Amino acid sequence: MKVLVIGGGGREHAIAWKVKKSRWVNKVYCAPGNGGISSVAVCVPIPADDIEALVKFATENEIDLTIVGPEAPLTEGIVDRFREKGLKIFGPTKAAALLESSKSFAKMIMDRYNIPTARYASFDDPEDARRYIRETGGPMVVKVDGLAAGKGAFPCEDELEALAAVDLIASGAFKEAGSKILIEEYLVGEEASILAFSDGKNVIPLEPTQDHKRVWNDDEGPNTGGMGAYSPAPVITEDLSSRIYDEILVPTIRGMKAEGRPYEGILYAGLMITEEGPKVIEFNCRFGDPEAQAVIPRLATDFIKPILACCDGTLDKVQLRWSRNSCVCVVMASGGYPGPYTKGHAVSGLDKIEKMENMIVFHAGTRREEDGSIITSGGRVLGITALGPNIKDTIKLAYKGVRKVEFKDAYYRTDIGKKALFHIDGM
Ligand code: AMP
Ligand code: GLY
Repeated sequence: MKVLVIGGGGREHAIAWKVKKSRWVNKVYCAPGNGGISSVAVCVPIPADDIEALVKFATENEIDLTIVGPEAPLTEGIVDRFREKGLKIFGPTKAAALLESSKSFAKMIMDRYNIPTARYASFDDPEDARRYIRETGGPMVVKVDGLAAGKGAFPCEDELEALAAVDLIASGAFKEAGSKILIEEYLVGEEASILAFSDGKNVIPLEPTQDHKRVWNDDEGPNTGGMGAYSPAPVITEDLSSRIYDEILVPTIRGMKAEGRPYEGILYAGLMITEEGPKVIEFNCRFGDPEAQAVIPRLATDFIKPILACCDGTLDKVQLRWSRNSCVCVVMASGGYPGPYTKGHAVSGLDKIEKMENMIVFHAGTRREEDGSIITSGGRVLGITALGPNIKDTIKLAYKGVRKVEFKDAYYRTDIGKKALFHIDGM
C-alpha cells in the first residue's frame, strides 16, 4: 500500500513512523512533513490545508490510504473531497468534525445524548454574557465557540476575570471563532485524554494518555499545544475506563449516527476526572499532539488494521493489543513559546539519542538542511520519547535523552509524568 500522511508536527511523525512499520505498507508520503519525518517518509511540499493540491497528489500518485493529522483540513471538509474522488481517507467528514470546530454543537450533542460535561450557557451577544457572569459570579470558564489552537479557553477564578475574558473576545481577538461565547461550570479534578477509533458504529478506545497543557512545571503559565504526555495514565482505573466507554464514547458515536453525521476516524475526548466521575471538557476530531507520540508507540497491533477498519465499517472485527511498556514524551520547545520565539537554530546531539535503546525522537518544528543538519522551525521542536517497563524509569530515560540534545534557548518542563507517580506510589 501507498499511504499519505497529512500534517507536519510531532503527531504526524509518530503516525508516519508507525505506518512505516506496517507489513502492508511499502511507501509513505507526508505533506508537508518536517526534518524528522523525512527519515521515514517522502516529504511533499504541499501545505496540510491545500485540499485541492492534496486531492491531485493522491490521485496522481495512486495513494491507497490517506491519514489526516491536524483538525484544520478535517473541519474544511478534506474527507468529503477525497471521497467524492473515490480516494480512501481516515478521518471524520466536515459534518462530523463539527464536534471539534463548534463547542456549542458539541454541547448540544452532549445535552441531547446525556453525556456528562460541565454545565454551560452560550451567548451570541457579549452583553448577555456579561449579564450572566454578574448574576452567577464565582469561578467559571469562558470560551470562544470556534477553533482557537488551544488558546480560546479562559479558566476564571471570579467575575472580574470572566468579564475581562469576555472583553478580550468581544474585541475581536478571535475573529469569527469568537462570534459565540460559552460560559462553563469550572470543573475540578485531573485531566486525561481518551482517544478512540470509530467506524461510525463501533468504538475502540486506545490506552489512556495524559497531556501537560500549561507551559511551566506544576501546570502553571499559559496553555500550549501540549508540553509532554505519557501513557498509560493511571488516573484512569479499569472502572473509570468502562464508565468512559459506556457514558461517553458509545453515546457520542450513537448520537452522531442518529444526527445523520456518523463519526469515522479518531474521536478525542478531553476529560476531567471529577469526584462525580468523568466529564467531557472538549472533543477533538483527530489524534492529540503530543498524546499520539505517547500512545502510538505502545500499540502492538499493526496500525493499518484499525485504520482501514474505520474506513471500511468493520471495526467490530478488530481487537487492539498493547505493549505493557510505559511511554513518556517530553516536548523540547523554542524559548518563549507559546509567545514569540526565534527559530533557525542548529539542533545538536540527535546522533547520541539514536544510539540509545528504547528512545524515539519525534520531530515537530524542525527542517532538514541539504547537508543533513537539523534546524529549529517552530514553537514545539522535538518530542523526546522513551519506552520502559514502568513509568518511573521511563521518565528518567526520557530526561536522559533530553539532556543530550541542545539548541539555542531550548525549553522543556522537568515534571512530565509526575502525576502518574503520585497515583502509583503516592509521591
Ligand atoms: P479547551 O480549549 O476546551 O480544550 O480547554 C483548554 C483547557 O482549559 C483544558 O485542557 C482545561 O485545562 C481547561 N478547561 C476547559 N474547560 C474547563 C472547565 N469547564 N473546567 C475546568 N477547566 C477547564
Ligand atoms: N494535546 C492537546 C491536543 O492535541 O488538542
